[in-house]
Amino acid sequence: MQKSSRMVTQILKVDPHSIAFDSAGAAVFGDAKTRQAIDSAAELLRDSQVVAFPTETVYGLGASALSSEAVAKIYQAKNRPADNPLITHVSSVDMIQTVLKTTVPEIYNPLIEKFWPGPLTIILPMTDKCPLSALVTAEQDTFAVRLPDHPIARALIETSNLPLAAPSANASTKPSPTLAEHVHFDLDGKIPLILDGGACGVGLESTVVDGTVSPPMLLRPGGISLEKIQSLGGQWSNIILGKKTAGQYEKVKTPGMKYKHYSPSAKVIVYENSKDGSLVLHNYLSENPNEKVAILKSKSWLTEQFQNKQNLVIIDLGATGDDIQRNLFAALRQADSLKVDTILVEGVGEEMEGLAIMNRLTKAASEVVDCNI
Ligand code: TXA
Ligand code: MG
Repeated sequence: MQKSSRMVTQILKVDPHSIAFDSAGAAVFGDAKTRQAIDSAAELLRDSQVVAFPTETVYGLGASALSSEAVAKIYQAKNRPADNPLITHVSSVDMIQTVLKTTVPEIYNPLIEKFWPGPLTIILPMTDKCPLSALVTAEQDTFAVRLPDHPIARALIETSNLPLAAPSANASTKPSPTLAEHVHFDLDGKIPLILDGGACGVGLESTVVDGTVSPPMLLRPGGISLEKIQSLGGQWSNIILGKKTAGQYEKVKTPGMKYKHYSPSAKVIVYENSKDGSLVLHNYLSENPNEKVAILKSKSWLTEQFQNKQNLVIIDLGATGDDIQRNLFAALRQADSLKVDTILVEGVGEEMEGLAIMNRLTKAASEVVDCNI
């Protein structure tokens, strides 16, 4: 077994608003400190090190996707299972052709036009010409790529001139990080640098779609809703949902789907169709009087009656799909930091942002209760 040595983890503040992109897509820096931080990060990346950086979805843990030495450090820092492939991040569509030596199949054109840069990942066929490290693809015959919309992410890729393999920058099984301090909490001493660009706007990961199969498949719901993809028409209106879960030894299209995920240390219970929540919350709290509990409410739960209760924390995720997805992972982490025993979460309908929210919630949960049954 390889011994992992502790290192000093530096955190550098960067200002995403200080970066503009010229017509050729090159980063123009308006702030010297941000530029220096990105230069230092790019130098580490060229030296086969890992760097955590913000994207519009969640913080990523990046390394050169062309170097197995570098990519191995991602798996090691996160303690990630080796058969779970990584998304490669590019700073332009051109980079897929010029650096990854891959022609993007035509079916993706409307998606790229509409949703890139942004929280959408596409699956491409792997060929002998593509220089990606075998550790990125985990020996699949495809690879996943996305063009992020975050100025820091794009500027970092462009400055390092490297496609970056980057999973979410959490310790494996923990909720994805939406703040630099979440990354620091999980990976302090394991990585050399975190670029702190503030809170992530989307808050949960990119949507992963596979257009290399017919009909196309939604492999992971995320920042772009299924409905938005369907509304492009053509073959995309026939997109089908990939399998939600898989057995431990099954080879699956998105290996990430089979692992325990997004799990805080506390027990998570999600309630579906629970109306204003009064009944389930009242029952749970009276049956478990000795537990410290966090309630994560969103659209419908009314919690005023519980407000002054001892050993109870109420966290409001917000009332819209955008709010809920932006706040969800941070709220799970906040509840954990308050050392609660149990987190009770209001489930939402699976339309629009609800599909990705419920996908993450059901994986974080040890119990999902449908109050209609
Ligand atoms: O928003 C995001 O996508 C974030 C940020 C950092 O960009 N990244 C992220 O990466 O969520 P990660 O590693 O946590 O999730 C990658 C997902 C996994 O479910 C993985 O199995 C799937 O993408 N994936 C990667 N390559 C694949 C491939 N060739 N075929 C099918 N699924 C793939
Ligand atoms: Mg992840």
